[in-house]
Amino acid sequence: MSSRAAATPRVISGIQPSGVLHLGNYFGAIRQHIALQDRHPGQALYFIADYHALTTLRTPEALRANVFEAAVTYLALGLDPARSLLFRQSDVPEVTELAWLLATVTGMGLLERAHSYKDKIANGITPSVGLFFYPVLMAADILAYDATLVPVGKDQVQHIEMAQDMATHFNEAFAAQDPVLVRPEPLAARAGVVPGLDGRKMSKSYDNLVPMFESGKKLRKIVGQVVTDSTPLGEPLPFATCNVAALLRLFCEPAELAQLELWYREGRRDGAPFGYGHAKMLLADKIDQYFAPARARREHLITAEGRAEVEALLARSAIKAREIAGQTLERCRRACGLR
Ligand code: ADP
Ligand code: TRP
Repeated sequence: MSSRAAATPRVISGIQPSGVLHLGNYFGAIRQHIALQDRHPGQALYFIADYHALTTLRTPEALRANVFEAAVTYLALGLDPARSLLFRQSDVPEVTELAWLLATVTGMGLLERAHSYKDKIANGITPSVGLFFYPVLMAADILAYDATLVPVGKDQVQHIEMAQDMATHFNEAFAAQDPVLVRPEPLAARAGVVPGLDGRKMSKSYDNLVPMFESGKKLRKIVGQVVTDSTPLGEPLPFATCNVAALLRLFCEPAELAQLELWYREGRRDGAPFGYGHAKMLLADKIDQYFAPARARREHLITAEGRAEVEALLARSAIKAREIAGQTLERCRRACGLR
């Protein structure tokens, strides 16, 4: 760890503004981000990774709308601007300068080993330089703020390890006596993979997601599409392998879960047959209730008055974030002889 390790831990994470946010994003990432503001008040920084999104999104209106939706989602779910910062990545252009400085000490081999890059190539995507460079920008996002903890999904851990390498290389190259960049640590989400409607990982790429803010009939219709086997009503149901049960687990207390398991095992509830249709109704009700307070806050945030509040908050947070990043950049520029 460099001698510059912040005395108090600082948390940072980014969320891609790439469309509708779903239960997988919530249980895999957002819930943990919001919980961390209690443990590290004043030291939790979250940004909407709009520069990163440009590697895949080419519609300005969609980008603007998605960035706003991501901000509203975090705020509706409980991000507290008094304890956390929430800003747009591109409001802190210092990160792009730091990305360049880091690129000068980063070997091609390091980036060529990135799993997410290799997966995309394997899926037939013709890479832009931006896609290849993605982990360098991500390292800059982290190192610009002297962040020590980076809560991310398991798929992103390798990128944090690359940021560690880049910090070390930069310090060794330019600041061996007095390191200027802090080594970050990944904080992998504890929640496992949230399954989607078809049982694969819930993901917008698979068209199998349950959006967080859907409710009522529409939500019941979506939940109705969760794939199950063809056990007839009234027969014992397989609890351990059922996609509906896997999703119900996310919302149930242990006692409720034990009760549910019993209904599955017996294929009956209170003497009456219990089947997948009933389990799906329960699931839709749970999701509906769980997100009801957040939906209400969201309704306010998307009014004209709410929109202005969100914009003002993003702008205020960005000023504070820029102050921190500006100091880091000044140290880095000095270290490598740019000043
Ligand atoms: P998507 O797969 O829908 O494109 P992203 O890759 O943008 O989602 O994921 C954003 C964050 O949400 C990441 O930290 C990721 O690990 C987490 N996440 C996404 N889908 C799931 C899931 N099904 N289960 C658990 N975490 C998930
Ligand atoms: N790549 C991350 C994702 O897809 C988003 C991200 C960009 C990020 N910069 C970051 C996450 C810095 C943590 C820290 O989920």
